[in-house]
This record gives sequence, C-alpha cells and structure tokens, in this order.
Amino acid sequence: MASGATDMEPSKSVTKMAEAFLEKAEAGQLVIGVVGLGYVGLPLAEAYARQNTRVIGYDISEKRAEQLNNGHSGMLHIDDSRVQSMLDAKLFKATAKAEDLKDADAILIAVPTPLDIHHQPDLSYVVDTCKILSQNLRRGQLIVLESTTYPGTTDEVMKPELEKSGLKAGIDFALAYSPEREDPGNPDFETATIPKVVGADSADGRLMAQAAYNIIVETVMVSNTRTAEATKLVENIYRWINIAAVNEMKMIFEKIDIDIWEVIDAAKTKPFGFHAFYPGPGVGGHCIRIDPYYLSYKAREYGLSTQFIELAGEINTNMPRHIIGRLLQELSRREKKALAASKILLCGLAYKKDIDDMRESPSLELIQLLKEQGADVSFYDPMIAEVPETREHIELAGMKSITWNEANLREFDAAVIATAHSRVNYKELCENVPLILDTRNATKDNFEEFKSKIVKA
Ligand SMILES: NC(=O)c1ccc[n+]([C@@H]2O[C@H](COP(=O)([O-])OP(=O)(O)OC[C@H]3O[C@@H](n4cnc5c(N)ncnc54)[C@H](O)[C@@H]3O)[C@@H](O)[C@H]2O)c1
Repeated sequence: MASGATDMEPSKSVTKMAEAFLEKAEAGQLVIGVVGLGYVGLPLAEAYARQNTRVIGYDISEKRAEQLNNGHSGMLHIDDSRVQSMLDAKLFKATAKAEDLKDADAILIAVPTPLDIHHQPDLSYVVDTCKILSQNLRRGQLIVLESTTYPGTTDEVMKPELEKSGLKAGIDFALAYSPEREDPGNPDFETATIPKVVGADSADGRLMAQAAYNIIVETVMVSNTRTAEATKLVENIYRWINIAAVNEMKMIFEKIDIDIWEVIDAAKTKPFGFHAFYPGPGVGGHCIRIDPYYLSYKAREYGLSTQFIELAGEINTNMPRHIIGRLLQELSRREKKALAASKILLCGLAYKKDIDDMRESPSLELIQLLKEQGADVSFYDPMIAEVPETREHIELAGMKSITWNEANLREFDAAVIATAHSRVNYKELCENVPLILDTRNATKDNFEEFKSKIVKA
C-alpha cells in the first residue's frame, strides 16, 4: 500500500537486520505477532489475516486465547464469523504461551494502559509484556507498542526492559511506536482504512515498521517514538477539551432555553473552521477519559501543569451530577416526586452507541449517584446483560439489565437515555414512561407527540 512518508526516505546504509526484514516483507513472508487480543488487538490481527499474512495472537489470558481459537470474538460488534474465517484460512492462531511469539518477525503490542487509583498512568501491563518478551526476544525482530501512553514510554520504559534480554535496541532488534486509532463500532472506518502514524528512534526501526504496517494500511512516518506517542495524546486531548466546551455551553443554553443540538447542527453547516462535538452525560471509554492524564503526568516531570486538561476534566466529570440535578428538578416539578421515592431506568450502559464496552462509562457514575439519592435504579442495555467488575464501581458488579417489554417499562417514573444505541425502541420508551431525560438527542426525529414528556439534558 502507498505510504504517506515524505521526508524520511529509506537510508542508503540499510543494516543486515533491516535488509533481512525488508526482504521477507517484500516476499510477503512476514509473520506478525499481536500481543493483547482485545478491542484493538483482534481487529489488528484480522487486518493482517485479510492480507494473507500469518498472525500469532498472544494474550495473557488462556481463556481469551481459547475463546478465539474456538471461533468466538467475545465482542458483539465483531461477528464470530470474522474470527472463524481467519482460523479456517489457517492465518491466525491465539496462544497464551509467550514462547510462540519467537516465530513472529514483528510483534505489535496492544495491552491496556489505564490509570491507577491515584489517577496516575498504570504501565504495569506494558512492563509485564516487555518482561515476557525479553525472555523470548530473538535477533532481527521488530517490537512496536500500540497502547496509548505518554511521550517517552517506548524509549524510557520499554527499551531498558527489553534490553534485559541482552540484545540491544536499534542493533539486535528494532523498536517502534504506532498509536492505535481504532474506533470500535464505527461502520465508516476500520483498522485498514485509518492511516497509521509510525515513529522509531533508528533508521532501521522506521524502515522495518513502515514495511510491517504497509501490509495493511497507509503509514504516516514521523521522526521518532516520542512524536508518535505525542500525536495520539494530541488527538485525544483535542476531543476531551472540545467535549468539555460543548458540555459547558449546553449547561448555559439550558438556562436560556436554547437547544444545543440544534445549535450544533446549524453551526456545522459552516464549511470550514468548525468541527462538531456533542454534549453528553460525561465522557467514558478506555481512551478519551484516561489518556489526557498521561500527558499531565509527564508534564509534572518538567514542573509544568496542564490547565486545559484539568479544567476539561472538572467539567466532564461533573456532567453525571448535572444530569442527576436535572432529573431531580424535573421529577419534583412535573411528577411531584422525590428521587428517593422514584423508580428510574437508566437506558444504555455502554460508553458510546452500538458497542458492548462500558469501561469508564458515565452510566456507572449515574447509577451510583441515583443510588446515593435513594432512588430505585435499574438499567437496560441491549448489548450488556450484566455489569462486570470495574475499577471504580465494584459494588455495581452483577447488576442485570431489565428485560425490555411494555409491562416492565411502565414500572418506571423516569428514564435517562445515557447511550443512544440504534437498536433501542425509543418510541416505546416514550409511550410507557412518563418522564424521559435525553442526554444524547436520541429522540431528535419524529418525537413531536411525546414532546411534553421529553427533557433534553
Ligand atoms: N478500545 C479502543 O477503542 C482503543 C482505541 C485506541 C487505542 N486504544 C488503546 O489500545 C490499548 C489496548 O486497549 P484495548 O481496548 O484493546 O484493551 P482490551 O482490554 O480490550 O484488551 C487488552 C488485552 O490485553 C490482554 N493482556 C493484558 N496484559 C497482557 C500481557 N501482559 N500480555 C498479553 N496480553 C495481555 C488482556 O487479557 C486483553 O485481552 C490501550 O492502550 C488503549 O488505550 C484503545
């Protein structure tokens, strides 16, 4: 595939390591290892398999490896048939044995990079992976980190750990960073159609990484790993801050009876200089809610603060409280009811539409706050049957989605639409529940007849 590289053309003095790797790539014989077979790792493996490239998928979880080898994706937005066809073509095998990665020429790492309880980067998964890899590293391999992280991680954290193998980065093996831009559930884009930013700290690393990624996608080469790491943070911080800005504007417009959704729809007709962001009940997911704080952490190392990030954080993390405040107000004004005497349905647990991922979802915070207010809370999500164990809301684990039917819906005094899944029948919701707080504009079109019971919040 074509490369977006412009200013980093192949160096004339290609080392033997790079030469051997490039020859294999040219012959279509590279074997790819993917470490971490989750939301990012699985589609990445699939993108290679689709290009007839053999993939060894390693996951620390034996259960996960077994699930995949049995043809189950474990994710609703990825059909099992997609896993089955990689298996049938004998282009993919999942394993929980790290030594199997020895056969891979390039190893791409997509393990979690969450925050710890003190809101600091938790790189333990990356470090653990490097420890495992360093025991199995062989000369000539390319190792690429794809997990989101702060600038300096590849060079300062990964490299020393991998070099404990006795092999030297840039000489015996190549090291690179390429941020993952996967957007699960987005029907318009997939791994193979999202250009990939790639950086390495040696000429060999750049050449090898470019060759490995060009099998599946267009690459955008940058001069080093730090630049590639920073690129991902810039992308996500841009979203974090802009979402906070529209959330703030929404709270102001509410007071002056202006519909922020209508305003954004009008504003986005401007053909330049405006990009639409939408308000919501808070920000969730394993990326936008977490990644900005990776930069805050790094900035502190230099005695600098990240005021935009912190301010956006204040606004975004306060949104669930704002929604509950609106609900409390509307329930008492319209229904003459206190929250503590009400049955509330939270509609949508996932952090965004049409996926089954509820990591860091504001819906969990909403349920928690409603419970604290004494409300009787249930949730419905067509894609999530039960709340799993989570870092911040362990006490909600095991809570089950209600069954969707008219009789069950009629039990509720109010519903909060927190995620606008396409497959939810919002008309039926409006027909059966007296008060609807819509935080996602899910009731935008053809809901005139229910206007009196819908509050956009
Ligand atoms: N999910 C997204 O939409 C998305 C988008 C862009 C970037 N990212 C980034 O990609 C990275 C991975 O995220 P994800 O959503 O795929 O996570 P995930 O939790 O879905 O998957 C991670 C997988 O890694 C496995 N794992 C954990 N430690 C391991 C180890 N030491 N060795 C091997 N496997 C291990 C887990 O068992 C799990 O299957 C994160 O840094 C995330 O920020 C995610």
